[in-house]
Amino acid sequence: MAITYDYIDDYLYRIAQPRDLLLQKMEEEAESGAVPIIGPLVGRLLYNLARSSQTKKVLEIGTAIGYSGIWLGRAVAPLKGTVTTIDKDPKRVKWAEKNISEAELQKVIKVLEGDALEILSTLKEEYDMIFLDSDKDIYLDAFKSSVKKLRKGGLFVADNTLWGGDVAKGGRSELTQTMIRFNKEVFGYPGLSTVILPLRDGVLVGLKE
Ligand code: DHB
Ligand code: MG
Repeated sequence: MAITYDYIDDYLYRIAQPRDLLLQKMEEEAESGAVPIIGPLVGRLLYNLARSSQTKKVLEIGTAIGYSGIWLGRAVAPLKGTVTTIDKDPKRVKWAEKNISEAELQKVIKVLEGDALEILSTLKEEYDMIFLDSDKDIYLDAFKSSVKKLRKGGLFVADNTLWGGDVAKGGRSELTQTMIRFNKEVFGYPGLSTVILPLRDGVLVGLKE
């Protein structure tokens, strides 16, 4: 997963500001349950992006255990914002809801269970920020559908866009090719000012102009 030098990653994690007990516990349960989460570095990035853009309405695709949702929920809560997060796995939805309750963010974060592409087609509202971290095979369709719901000046953010560095090597695996195609589409999308930060597994940040 590390896409930069290990000693750089070690340093970034070492210098990261401490998290509260709930986030620490979630980091451990994700590790022992083999559920991929964004971790504290990308969590902090999402928090800072949401706070600095005064984001109120977030749409997240891919809830997992609710870790990223909690970072985002804490970022939008002071402005009475909301996070709508979608996951198709009922077990993860329950798991996330439990963590969200422990974080006392159940009024801020709404978890929707179901097929993200189906749910996206029913959502009518505009969002200030979209965070995509779902199954990779729906990334491109989820982007095309959700970016229309992003307000001008809003941020489209996607996790795993360097896919362990394989996208930069032109790897032939299906998932690598999927991610290469995804990045190409997003970078070619008119009106989106886009960059990938080589943090953790590559975080794409696009500003809708
Ligand atoms: C993996 C990592 C992720 O952050 C994710 O969202 C999905 C998969 C992985 O390493 O396989
Ligand atoms: Mg991810």
